[in-house]
Amino acid sequence: MSGALLEVRALQKHFPVKSGAFGLVSGHVRAVDGIDFHVYAGETLAIVGESGCGKSTAGRLVLRLLEPTGGSVRFEGEDLLRLPDWKMRAQRRHMQVIFQDPYASLNPRMTVGAMLGEPLMLHGLAASESARRARVGELLELVGLRPEHARRYPHEFSGGQRQRLAIARALAVEPKLIVADEPVSALDVSIQAQVVNLMRSLQARFGLAYVFISHDLAVVKHIADRIAVMYLGKIVETATTDELFRNPRHPYTRALLSAVPLPDPTVIRERALLEGDIPSAMNPPPGCRFHTRCRYVRPSCKVDMPGLVDDGAGHATACPWWAELPPAPSLAEGTGQDQDRMRLARLQAAFVTTQTEAT
Ligand SMILES: Nc1ncnc2c1ncn2[C@@H]1O[C@H](COP(=O)(O)OP(=O)(O)OP(=O)(O)O)[C@@H](O)[C@H]1O
Ligand code: SF4
Ligand SMILES: [Mg+2]
Repeated sequence: MSGALLEVRALQKHFPVKSGAFGLVSGHVRAVDGIDFHVYAGETLAIVGESGCGKSTAGRLVLRLLEPTGGSVRFEGEDLLRLPDWKMRAQRRHMQVIFQDPYASLNPRMTVGAMLGEPLMLHGLAASESARRARVGELLELVGLRPEHARRYPHEFSGGQRQRLAIARALAVEPKLIVADEPVSALDVSIQAQVVNLMRSLQARFGLAYVFISHDLAVVKHIADRIAVMYLGKIVETATTDELFRNPRHPYTRALLSAVPLPDPTVIRERALLEGDIPSAMNPPPGCRFHTRCRYVRPSCKVDMPGLVDDGAGHATACPWWAELPPAPSLAEGTGQDQDRMRLARLQAAFVTTQTEAT
């Protein structure tokens, strides 16, 4: 994908599993098992899927916080996996991370000023003590906090404010890409909206790209330009956000989007499909990985592993039968009466009306 800021090809991470008294390797968890995606400068790609499907592992691989088993990660055309350590350290400045639990990711013994000043010093971005203090004040204001907050410690802030601090720390080094792993999942819905709105306004202002990892489709619908749906270490569908919500093709995506019964009883309830357990990533099913839970499974699905095939318009699906399936209920408008749609509508209303004041 020429011109992409980030380009991931055939990326794999197989974690060895050891067992027995001698700690011998008895198998591998195929957490990420050959995924391709790209992210352009200034856009948000969301990675969604159920717990354990490999979202966080994918995010950590991109940042090289984990070493892949195979594949490539190119950032501005450069293969990160071939960079020597010193060059990778310099590259890290351009690729930052925000985690779900801001408290765990902030050093409780450091003042906010020291915490934000550290990366500035490390990357030579503030020549003097006064320049550093001024930049810390600026960063705090950027995320809706006040310069005098620099004297406080993380425990003196609320959950939403702590996530603002984590965002300020990521911004300190003026990155081009931020991998945000469930950044608002631990926050109340109204505060989720404020933090997501803050992320969007910072994106517009600085041209940031986000890889936004989430299991929450309501949040994703609000922030993502494109979505990649993962299942058991594989990407099963990618499309623009509007297209995916309007026209979900893969049976797994459709089941995710139809997460609760629909008001119209004639519409197929695909929710039932997701009631089965996700198979073990140590021993994934052969053929299509979703076949053990797919209501449309055919004999060949148990043998042939479908590839992710693009339709030429940027909508790619890893199911050769999608065009033959009955029409899917669309969540494009989010106006139904079921619980999830209500939540989607409520959350969207919160996004529209909430100001980004700090909470
Ligand atoms: N260090 C590790 N060693 C062994 N297995 C691991 C390790 N880290 C993750 N896994 C396994 O890899 C798979 C993918 O995990 P990952 O954390 O990437 O999923 P996730 O999609 O982020 O899930 P969640 O939504 O719960 O955060 C899971 O089966 C998990 O148990
Ligand atoms: S390939 Fe077969 S099992 Fe897999 S999603 Fe498509 S229909 Fe279902
Ligand atoms: Mg995770």
